[in-house]
Amino acid sequence: MTATTVTQLHPAPPRAGAVLTVDDLVDLHSPPDRSSPRVRANFVASVDGSATAAGRTRDLGGPADLLVFDLLRRLCDVVVVGAGTVRDEGYGPMRLDDDAVAWRRAAGLPDHPVFAIVSGTLGLDPTSGVFTDAPVRPVVLTHDGAPRDARARLGQVADVVSCGRDLVDPRLLVRALVERGLTQIHTEGGPALFGDLVAADVVDELCLTVSPNFEGGAGPRIVAAREAMALKGLALDHVLLADDMLLTKWSRRR
Ligand SMILES: NC(=O)c1ccc[n+]([C@@H]2O[C@H](COP(=O)([O-])OP(=O)(O)OC[C@H]3O[C@@H](n4cnc5c(N)ncnc54)[C@H](OP(=O)(O)O)[C@@H]3O)[C@@H](O)[C@H]2O)c1
Repeated sequence: MTATTVTQLHPAPPRAGAVLTVDDLVDLHSPPDRSSPRVRANFVASVDGSATAAGRTRDLGGPADLLVFDLLRRLCDVVVVGAGTVRDEGYGPMRLDDDAVAWRRAAGLPDHPVFAIVSGTLGLDPTSGVFTDAPVRPVVLTHDGAPRDARARLGQVADVVSCGRDLVDPRLLVRALVERGLTQIHTEGGPALFGDLVAADVVDELCLTVSPNFEGGAGPRIVAAREAMALKGLALDHVLLADDMLLTKWSRRR
């Protein structure tokens, strides 16, 4: 046996295994200091590492995963999503439910987080509900080379912000959001955007649900980096169990 510690989480040892309330989950995921910029991501993956099932995430998640998914929106200032995910998952406006709005008001936060979409081609429909039904004017994060006509069209319904010359540079993305007072940055992916964020080492936390399924196909992993990169170490914050689904939280070890 080496010096490695292996801890049994399930079946649960005495005192562990208490059933968590929504408030407990909020506490477990609340940022320690809202004045300090933080980039958090949330993903679900199958046991064999796929971030999709039949091209979407719907069949990978479950009630507990959805609960945490919603709570993470509640806790942030801005939800950042790649245009591929917005298109593939058919995103609507970033509007929270009444409980979440009440919680945010009590916490002194605006009713809804800002929705920020990352796109280079600007292949986004300005007449979609993402923009027309938005409770807060969305932000489109793009680069200097983006098509001018699409930029002008989207500029009618969103703040279009350049964060790089040929690509959205993750460091400029973070800076642009923090300059708007949006310090608690939450991304829901997808894998291409997350690959860029991880490669640039701007990610502080990852909430990862391990879905009790084999996918077996050619689905992407949660990080689709453009190039091979050096390992980036993570510390394990918690592991929660919901039926056969693991809800994990990790922090970047710096
Ligand atoms: N398992 C999960 O938790 C999870 C989470 C999210 C998504 N997904 C799945 O992932 C799939 C989509 O994957 P994806 O990798 O295509 O998603 P994505 O990262 O959301 O979208 C990629 C697109 O985002 C834009 N983009 C990302 N990074 C950019 C950068 N640095 N500069 C400029 N533009 C950038 C580009 O948009 P333009 O093409 O407009 O230029 C790019 O084509 C879907 O099937 C979705 O269901 C799974």
